[in-house]
Amino acid sequence: MILWAHRGASYEAPENTLAAFSRAMDSGVHGIELDVYAIDGERFVFHDRYLERLTATPGRLKDLTAEQIKHLKVFGQQSIPTLREALAHINGHCHVNIELKGDVPTKELLLDVDYALEHANFNPEQLLVSSFNHHWLQRLKKRRPEIKIGALSASCPLSYCYFAEELQAFSAHFAVDFVTPELVEDGHRRGLQVYVYTVDGQHDIEELHAMGVDGIFTNHPAYAQNVIAGLTT
Ligand code: G3P
Ligand code: MG
Repeated sequence: MILWAHRGASYEAPENTLAAFSRAMDSGVHGIELDVYAIDGERFVFHDRYLERLTATPGRLKDLTAEQIKHLKVFGQQSIPTLREALAHINGHCHVNIELKGDVPTKELLLDVDYALEHANFNPEQLLVSSFNHHWLQRLKKRRPEIKIGALSASCPLSYCYFAEELQAFSAHFAVDFVTPELVEDGHRRGLQVYVYTVDGQHDIEELHAMGVDGIFTNHPAYAQNVIAGLTT
């Protein structure tokens, strides 16, 4: 079962910052998951629509200019990176799951994908673009079929993983609350990787491992690694 560092190693450092990505790489994760909005012609790595929780600033991220966003600090410590800065920092050392939170224009996203491939030492198979908005994924897949996509769902759909197969996704990503053995089996029958978010506790890690889940998104990869090591030795 592979580990994705959820928003980087966000238990150890401010989420979605270069510090959290460094901690994740130090832990030797398979990959780093990060969240992306397009604002003012730039792509920023940030999870929330509103600024308050992470930056103690009122208002919405999308109502700021790129210049204003560059002056904010996450938890008073770390800058909000652009996607390109994040990709340059990770520099092909592990996989990256780019989760589209806002409607990132495909043309803009591909600028960063091409930057990662041409200037930041990534192989195409190290990049995975995911979203809860399957229309955005379909649009990307039509434009650049070779990019791996991950279809997110916060439910257990009636037709299980059909939605992901229909999108020609590489993987289907589910909220931990709704994962069942039937869902995992269906994903595998359709040739998909099945990943689960957000998984930090020992019992959940054990149960998902027993179900044959392929990977988890965890805030605390160092801890999850210890749990998994205990399962397989
Ligand atoms: O990509 C998995 C997970 O990050 C989706 O939920 O809200 O943590 O971005 P969220
Ligand atoms: Mg996310």
